[in-house]
Amino acid sequence: MELREITGENYQQVLDLSTGAEQEKFVTANLYSLAHAWVFQKTARPYALYEGEEPVGFIMFDWRPEKKWVEIWRFMIDHRFQGKGYGRRAMELALEKIRRAGVFDRVQLYYVPGNEKARALYRNLGFGETGNTLDGEIQMELILE
Ligand SMILES: CC(C)(COP(=O)(O)OP(=O)(O)OC[C@H]1O[C@@H](n2cnc3c(N)ncnc32)[C@H](O)[C@@H]1OP(=O)(O)O)[C@@H](O)C(=O)NCCC(=O)NCCS
Repeated sequence: MELREITGENYQQVLDLSTGAEQEKFVTANLYSLAHAWVFQKTARPYALYEGEEPVGFIMFDWRPEKKWVEIWRFMIDHRFQGKGYGRRAMELALEKIRRAGVFDRVQLYYVPGNEKARALYRNLGFGETGNTLDGEIQMELILE
């Protein structure tokens, strides 16, 4: 598994990834996320997730070193590749990248209530609920040592 920059060569592969209809409520479609990445280009850091040469998912950070936090703004594994450990591996790599940057105190993210799979994944990696919500979504946070 690796995080790759999104370029003119691979962006269509990212747009072709989808969570499937029943999970649409859990994450914004990649088409919108790439539009957001352009509009919020000062802080957005989007990456394609590859397993070998196979594009399997997408992750985007809201990268805020001046505030010492980074948000996992978007994260998805295509429905065809879910349940194989790729989500877990991708988050581990994302956290490694964040730690390596050496400028962050904490990692935060939001999940939609009912998204138990995402919640379980984040809890297993050490995230905990902060008690805050935003637009009905529940905030989790990982404090970096
Ligand atoms: C959430 C998501 C990224 C997980 O990716 P994945 O590749 O399917 O996950 P993995 O196979 O690595 O499994 C990760 C964890 O999910 C949990 N899990 C897997 N299948 C599950 C299921 N059917 N029910 C509950 N939990 C489940 C396991 O606890 C596993 O954790 P562990 O490895 O620490 O034991 C993926 O399902 C997805 O893209 N969902 C739709 C979009 C979304 O919800 N994004 C997150 C927005 S906050």
